Amino acid sequence: MCGIVGYVGSRSATPFLLDGLRRLEYRGYDSAGIAVLDDELRVTRRVGFVAALEGAVPAEAAGTLGIGHTRWATHGGVTEENAHPHTDAEGTIAVVHNGIIENHAAIRARLQEQGAVFRSQTDTEVLPHLIRRLYQGDPVAAVRAALQMVQGTYGIAVVFREHPGLLVAARNGSPLVVGKGNGETFLASDPHALARHTREVVYLDDREIVTITADGWDIQRLDGGHTSRAIEILAEELTDTDLGDFTHHMLKEIHEQPESLRRCLQGRVVPEEGGAKLGGLDLDPRAIARISRVGFLGCGTSFHAGLVGAAALEQLARIPAFAEIASEFRYRNPVIDRDSVFFAVSQSGETADTLGAVREVQLKGGSVMGVVNVVGSSIARTCGRGVYVHSGPEIAVASTKAFTSQVAATLVAALMFARTRTLAQHEGREVGEELLAAPGLVERYLANPGDIQRAVELLVGGRYVFFLGRGTSAAVAMEGALKLKEVAYVPCMSYPAAEMKHGPIALIDAHTPVVAICPDDLMRDKTLSNVQEVRARGARVVMIHTEGDHEAAAMGEVSIAVPKTRSALTHPLLTVLPLQLIAYRAGLALGRDIDRPRNLAKSVTVE
Ligand code: G6P
Repeated sequence: MCGIVGYVGSRSATPFLLDGLRRLEYRGYDSAGIAVLDDELRVTRRVGFVAALEGAVPAEAAGTLGIGHTRWATHGGVTEENAHPHTDAEGTIAVVHNGIIENHAAIRARLQEQGAVFRSQTDTEVLPHLIRRLYQGDPVAAVRAALQMVQGTYGIAVVFREHPGLLVAARNGSPLVVGKGNGETFLASDPHALARHTREVVYLDDREIVTITADGWDIQRLDGGHTSRAIEILAEELTDTDLGDFTHHMLKEIHEQPESLRRCLQGRVVPEEGGAKLGGLDLDPRAIARISRVGFLGCGTSFHAGLVGAAALEQLARIPAFAEIASEFRYRNPVIDRDSVFFAVSQSGETADTLGAVREVQLKGGSVMGVVNVVGSSIARTCGRGVYVHSGPEIAVASTKAFTSQVAATLVAALMFARTRTLAQHEGREVGEELLAAPGLVERYLANPGDIQRAVELLVGGRYVFFLGRGTSAAVAMEGALKLKEVAYVPCMSYPAAEMKHGPIALIDAHTPVVAICPDDLMRDKTLSNVQEVRARGARVVMIHTEGDHEAAAMGEVSIAVPKTRSALTHPLLTVLPLQLIAYRAGLALGRDIDRPRNLAKSVTVE
């Protein structure tokens, strides 16, 4: 989603701003712009990719202070006028903004009454006009006063023509990170933009405002008073975002899964004790014994991982567990008892709705822990405890390796809870061994993935694709359908296999291919019966089954085998792999922009 960069130092700001924006491209955006200050504020904006902006920046834009932005449209269409930075009428103040100003209409009306002329349809444009009106020589006071009138979420960066060595930034709900250079200081909404230039950073907290100069920064609370923050060191892995021999990040990330899973499991599963250790949860056996209920909260792919986690936890540890979409949970005034434990599942750690759900749990006195990939992200920091899934940077918008690592992390938590409550040592040992074997099986499957191309040909020729599964395979079906929609824009839906006969089966005919996720678990026979039902109505079937299951294989026009495991627990880690590859190849076949699908964003920081 929207991205912010800023620079103040002694070099020309433009190269850093453009490089930083390029590094934020993976988040998803539709237009980009920069403002560079020398004797005047030079603003360049373009619809489309950063490459288009780069070609348009005039050579004179060589000042040593600047801000940049990639926009993902919320208020107003994708036009150059709506792209950021936005300025006041005289072009003396430039602002970039992530988030949403909820009371922008009222502020705009008031400013218009006072004579302000607006040039965009954005909520953001109220900010430069407002700041200009409130400015009386002190830039921080003007920004602070403007933000006191604003409701909503923001990460903003502001440049004043009158203050050539100063950048002002503030945060409320949209992340910002400041990076320390040598005689220069950087700002970004995502540490990826900084990792090439510095490893020393500080993250702003909500309702903080920072003044940034070439020599450092000063953080204050928006409601008054200074705060100090220790410098944090960015993880090495943030720089590892090159494509290597792969054509797309999505394909690279699919193939990284054996390694990312190993990183997630390493040192956490302890087979000799039949248990698992997740020190970051900070739960001792007594606390685990007291847990009355576990909730998994997340959005998109992370919600699907939560569904698997909830099923595994309930099965293994016999604790009532559920998963819920974070945007629904946060607004339904949920009942949260003292002994419930929640997991906020999020790759980016910045998803606005998941962060909102975390705050709702905390506000009601509950315990919530992150299952997060990005170290130091807002959800990780707000929860204060949890599990990092250690997938490494995930650049493709469609999440793949983060999903399998999230599932693995929740399985480790399930084992840890279960060992305390239900499992004997030998039973726990079996589960632990099963988990540790999973990366090798993923590797084996990816080396020989079956006839993905034939499956793609069958599916993209259809009018509408159904994904069916039961139990944790119903969650995998949801994930497979989401991938195919996101990457290939193929209309599809997922349904628990038995439930489809209560309505959706009316849609089934020879033009609605079905992907059945049917590993050899307790539900296998039941799922096969449901497959017979769709076959009887003419549907062509892609069958995802366990290797050696010839009966299941025979039911698919195309059949794809995944390695056999000893228990059903790790099935989702394997059955999701062909679905990821199908979505990738379908996207390729249909000429889609695989890593940057239309309308989508990697990190959804608005609700
Ligand atoms: C966006 C992404 C999805 C992701 C979802 C949740 O919609 O495009 O791939 O699953 O957000 O993101 P999170 O970072 O919280 O896992």
